[in-house]
Amino acid sequence: MTSLWSSAILCVLTLILEVTDALTVSKPVERACVIGAGYSGLATARYLQEYGVNYTVFEASRHVGGTWRFDPNVGTDEDGLPLFTSMYKYLRTNTPRHTMEFDGFPFPEDTPSYPTGTCFHKYLKLFAKKFDLMKNIQLRSYVTSIKRVQDIWNITYTRTNTRDNYTEQCDFVVVATGEYSNPVWPKFEGQSSFTGNIIHSHDYKEPEAYANRRVLLVGAGPSGLDLAIHLSNITSKLVHSHHLTYNQPNFSDTYIKKPDIKSFTSNGVIFQDDSYEDIDDVIFCTGYELALSFLDENTGVTKSGKFVLPLHQDVVNIRYPSMAFVGISKGIINRVLDAQAQYSALLAARKFELPHQNDMLKMWLRRARALQSRGKKIVDINVIGEAMDQYFGNLTTEAGVTRAPPVLTEIRNFNALNRLEDLLNYREYDYYIRDENNFARSYNPRMGAPCPIDIE
Ligand SMILES: Cc1cc2nc3c(=O)[nH]c(=O)nc-3n(C[C@H](O)[C@H](O)[C@H](O)COP(=O)(O)OP(=O)(O)OC[C@H]3O[C@@H](n4cnc5c(N)ncnc54)[C@H](O)[C@@H]3O)c2cc1C
Ligand SMILES: *[C@@H]1O[C@H](CO)[C@@H](O)[C@H](O)[C@H]1NC(C)=O
Ligand SMILES: *[C@@H]1O[C@H](CO)[C@@H](O)[C@H](O)[C@H]1NC(C)=O
Ligand SMILES: *[C@@H]1O[C@H](CO)[C@@H](O)[C@H](O)[C@H]1NC(C)=O
Ligand SMILES: *[C@@H]1O[C@H](CO)[C@@H](O)[C@H](O)[C@H]1NC(C)=O
Ligand SMILES: *[C@@H]1O[C@H](CO)[C@@H](O)[C@H](O)[C@H]1NC(C)=O
Ligand SMILES: *[C@@H]1O[C@H](CO)[C@@H](O)[C@H](O)[C@H]1NC(C)=O
Repeated sequence: MTSLWSSAILCVLTLILEVTDALTVSKPVERACVIGAGYSGLATARYLQEYGVNYTVFEASRHVGGTWRFDPNVGTDEDGLPLFTSMYKYLRTNTPRHTMEFDGFPFPEDTPSYPTGTCFHKYLKLFAKKFDLMKNIQLRSYVTSIKRVQDIWNITYTRTNTRDNYTEQCDFVVVATGEYSNPVWPKFEGQSSFTGNIIHSHDYKEPEAYANRRVLLVGAGPSGLDLAIHLSNITSKLVHSHHLTYNQPNFSDTYIKKPDIKSFTSNGVIFQDDSYEDIDDVIFCTGYELALSFLDENTGVTKSGKFVLPLHQDVVNIRYPSMAFVGISKGIINRVLDAQAQYSALLAARKFELPHQNDMLKMWLRRARALQSRGKKIVDINVIGEAMDQYFGNLTTEAGVTRAPPVLTEIRNFNALNRLEDLLNYREYDYYIRDENNFARSYNPRMGAPCPIDIE
């Protein structure tokens, strides 16, 4: 890890030397391009429009809403593209909607605090309609390359109806392609000899397919815990392999907690405690990696499946500040995506000045060294987490982004703990924002409550 830190820091120090005659980014942006029309891309489009920037959103699929759209296809979509969405049936949000709302665009009052995925998708479609964004969104345009050519960006995409490729030029680009599309697949000894089915939670659609099956869930992140709830009453046996410490609920008599996997046999799995279970189906809830292979080497960022660097405010490509990322950060509420979108649009509209490049690099290095000294790894460089309210404050101070009230961070922090304390019931409460800093909640089970947003 130390060597990874050293090479990242060395790479940024090298940049400092290279940019001493810094390019200034003060000429007006004639055209901004946004890649992706999920929550992040839609939020960015709203602000670009508000600030009068000429822009186009390129979206690979035929739809807006990104991962919130349920698609019954597995693997590839109706146009033969990789399926980006990871949504499944019966999902309810795992965070109160107040932390997820676009600024100034609340859900209807009577929406449950934890709406369904379908309801959240309707909210996104309503947002696109309300702000008249569709006219600037070019659907079925799968971006395959973003390359720096002199001081602008060449964006190459495939039109999925004709399979023809096009290159367009943009002088500002916002990457908003999401971080939960590209599954991480673990590999265990004997896995290839296993004769049952193995999928990743990215491809999971509905519990009915697992009725009376012997199922192994691997992992206890948000997907692993959620699928344990969805599957424990319908499977004949639900084996859950993970190492999370939390207040495990009484799922059902057929739920079995196991430690990490040691190896597979042809019909089952052996765990680290040498116990064995017969298994029909395995669902790896093992998370996601960034998929940014369309970024050419010459874009000036260092990227891996886990991080992108060096970014100013976790948004701006410091090497070429006419490239921004919305939605690379981890450990955040959706309102952070809205704030990053506004920050990017304010930058594209030249409504504030970035610090000198060298100063951005020095700020980045200071933060990296602080993380390193706290024992964090380089892969945590885009994690905001506990520092979220300070982060909102920093975006406001630097660029005039609308300040998200501290109460949203309070709700996020409460919910993150409450979810692990009371997994089966934490969604059965409604939240009320009292003021800038305080919230209340009351028990109000609303499983199956209708979505008050009516849109196709
Ligand atoms: C199953 C699941 C449940 C979640 N639940 C919650 C929750 O309850 N609360 C919460 O706060 N967060 C949740 N999240 C996090 C979620 O990712 C954010 O809420 C939010 O949707 C992120 O939006 P995005 O626009 O950044 O990314 P996405 O929604 O992934 O949108 C990215 C868009 O970019 C498009 N795209 C990708 N690559 C290309 C390309 N090369 N060219 C053109 N277009 C491209 C995709 O088609 C997609 O439309 C959940 C995530 C998942 C996967
Ligand atoms: C916006 O940019 C496009 C592509 O460069 C251009 O064709 C169009 O004329 C521009 N529109 C405005 C209003 O400037
Ligand atoms: C378009 O680009 C893709 C990806 O780079 C490539 O595989 C394909 O052959 C190109 N199609 C045409 C018609 O040139
Ligand atoms: C960039 O795009 C323009 C316009 O399509 C094209 O003429 C040019 O050749 C491209 N340059 C590179 C290096 O791809
Ligand atoms: C399983 O079913 C029982 C009986 O209907 C119910 O009380 C319990 O809440 C269900 N468990 C889950 C995790 O849904
Ligand atoms: C599980 O059930 C037992 C016995 O009914 C009970 O004592 C315990 O508190 C329950 N655990 C949780 C987390 O609800
Ligand atoms: C906010 O800005 C201060 C001062 O530059 C910095 O020390 C701190 O790390 C920043 N916090 C976040 C979360 O970016």
